[in-house]
Amino acid sequence: LPPLRLGIAGLGTVGTGVIRLLRAHAALLQSRTGRQIEVIAVSARNRTRDRGIDLSALQWYDDPIALAAAPDIDVVVELMGGADGAARALVEAALKAGKAVVTANKALVARHAQTLARLSHKHDAPLLFEAAVAGGIPAIKMVREGVAPDALTRLSGILNGTSNFILTEMAETGRAFDDVLKEAQEKGYAEADPSADIDGWDAAHKLSILTAIAFRPILFDSLAVSGMRRITTSDIHQARKLGYAIKMLGVARRLADDRVEAWVQPCLIPAQSGLAQVNGVYNALTTEGPFSGPITISGQGAGEGPTANAVMADIIDLARGHALPLWGRMAEQAPIACEPIEDLPSRFYLR
Ligand code: NDP
Ligand code: HSE
Repeated sequence: LPPLRLGIAGLGTVGTGVIRLLRAHAALLQSRTGRQIEVIAVSARNRTRDRGIDLSALQWYDDPIALAAAPDIDVVVELMGGADGAARALVEAALKAGKAVVTANKALVARHAQTLARLSHKHDAPLLFEAAVAGGIPAIKMVREGVAPDALTRLSGILNGTSNFILTEMAETGRAFDDVLKEAQEKGYAEADPSADIDGWDAAHKLSILTAIAFRPILFDSLAVSGMRRITTSDIHQARKLGYAIKMLGVARRLADDRVEAWVQPCLIPAQSGLAQVNGVYNALTTEGPFSGPITISGQGAGEGPTANAVMADIIDLARGHALPLWGRMAEQAPIACEPIEDLPSRFYLR
């Protein structure tokens, strides 16, 4: 098979991580896919920034959208971020050009799922986004493949690494919120605008994507979202005295008549529960269905290595020619509003 040639837009935490992983595991990847996978072109805003990796042999594009039209690129890897702007323009242009796209951009996928799914179908261009949900955890693969035979009834979990890292540090060391947030930014966990992490929107993006795959597409703005900004170290310690941990949870339930309830918010959960042991940058996702029962997977939800691994898992699927088409419902079914949550379980989550 000929080499699979990648063009990467975005050379921050994730983009440089993907190049490092490819270079570290070139032989392994070739043995697993039967072909060479190589980055041939890159794009970012600042050409002269030292990114700690050698880019001298790669083509440089000042304009990321030009990657979509480059005839020698097989796969466009979008790792810039942002629901609109350059990221959206690039992904749409690449799909229209019939190129496979891999992205880690949950904001983009959650907010424009139907448009992107339609472009992907129309132009027969795969759109893959494993890294968009829960960093290193194969969450999309689990929902699309692992429990595909079952009609899931519930998805739940910790879907944001930054907020879980902050809550954990506040609980274990008593450090101040701002101090821990700064560390999460330095470690590359946080979004470019960290309010997405703190105010629950990032977890909501992920929950919305999972819900579209497992149940049906929902209107993103109809999700009930509440963040962790007001939680203090004292709240966490009081909760602990009562036998609870505070965690930011995302939960989606399939109701009768194909209706959906979905919310993201901080919850008190029993300190002995499995979810309370998911600490630091770790995420967890539990699926529940009548045949499969509850299945939980957990792992690092953000950061360079785990996210690069998830991006590469999609690229491996493309290299093998096994990439699943985007879930048909995303293209065909109009998104519906979530059911209003009359009584947000704002204090306790006892499952
Ligand atoms: P960073 O902020 O570290 O990197 C963003 C990169 O995109 C930078 O290299 C930047 O260029 C480049 N960029 C931004 N805008 C443009 C533009 N208009 N034109 C060209 N280049 C541009 O982000 P991350 O690597 O952390 O995240 C990338 C994506 O992955 C986001 O969608 C994020 O949500 C997602 N993600 C991130 C995870 C993480 O743990 N960090 C985990 C899972 C998903 P320059 O460097 O020159 O400024
Ligand atoms: N900012 C995100 C988080 C990155 O902290 O979970 C991974 O999606």
